[in-house]
Amino acid sequence: MRHLMSPLDFTVEELDKVLSLAGEIEKNPEKYAHVCQGKKLATIFYEPSTRTRLSFEAAMMNLGGNVLGFSSAASSSAAKGESVSDTIRMISCYADICAMRHPKEGAPLVASMHSSIPVINAGDGGHQHPTQTITDLLTIKSLKGRLGNLTIGLCGDLKFGRTVHSLINALVRYEGVKFVLISPEELRVPGYIREEVLDANGIEYKEVVRLEDVMSELDLLYMTRVQKERFFNEEDYVRMKDFYILDKQKMALGREDMLVLHPLPRVNEISVEVDDDPRAVYFKQVQYGVYARMALILTLLNTKVE
Ligand code: CP
Repeated sequence: MRHLMSPLDFTVEELDKVLSLAGEIEKNPEKYAHVCQGKKLATIFYEPSTRTRLSFEAAMMNLGGNVLGFSSAASSSAAKGESVSDTIRMISCYADICAMRHPKEGAPLVASMHSSIPVINAGDGGHQHPTQTITDLLTIKSLKGRLGNLTIGLCGDLKFGRTVHSLINALVRYEGVKFVLISPEELRVPGYIREEVLDANGIEYKEVVRLEDVMSELDLLYMTRVQKERFFNEEDYVRMKDFYILDKQKMALGREDMLVLHPLPRVNEISVEVDDDPRAVYFKQVQYGVYARMALILTLLNTKVE
């Protein structure tokens, strides 16, 4: 039995297989429409979500399976003080696989230690979000045709943005990837990511504050929201929240084949006027998230489809 806590839980070869399977599913969804009949996915979310929870549920339904779960700690017995380890013991009696989101870093890992079914980290605090990363990799591979030899701009809240941490971890394993880290000083990528991931792997990167100065260098621009829920005081959030706003003027500085991704939800960091630009692919990214999670469910349930 395998769990998924971090994108690094899969080797590059295993991840390539998941991405290939997702591509197969996209081309031939009917073939996969009943392969999880009789199986159940539990989504246990202690923190708000639209995409991750609903795309997991859509993924399991698309595979012919069923779903159950809760969408907030307040509507579960966590509100009465039940521990994560006790909760996953119950869920193991009800479901075949579980996706869990929690505000505390490491909570899904604790669950996996007490679980008899595969546990998927659907986002833990400011730490990791591996299924968003598989979604991002699938989007990049499908629309750019490769995962290597790319200059990737990561812009916004690089301190608390768990999608950025997971994506950097995953992309440093591909040849010729360079990063441009675009953030205010207070929201820089954490030191442990710079030292243990970027420096340790000899990855070329630079840190800048102004998005305009680097737009023309980028193959991909990955925008992120300032993570209001991780700030310790409202004043700091208000000061930071509109630091970056990607608009038509800034898009004009980017290459014709540059792609703009965003894990969403978006607040103000991408103006709605950008949505019609063919380079803005963040809504396509959402659709890739369903195929990615279908492939992941099949992989962790070890379901073979001939
Ligand atoms: N991208 C993402 O994790 O979105 P949700 O918070 O809506 O799940």
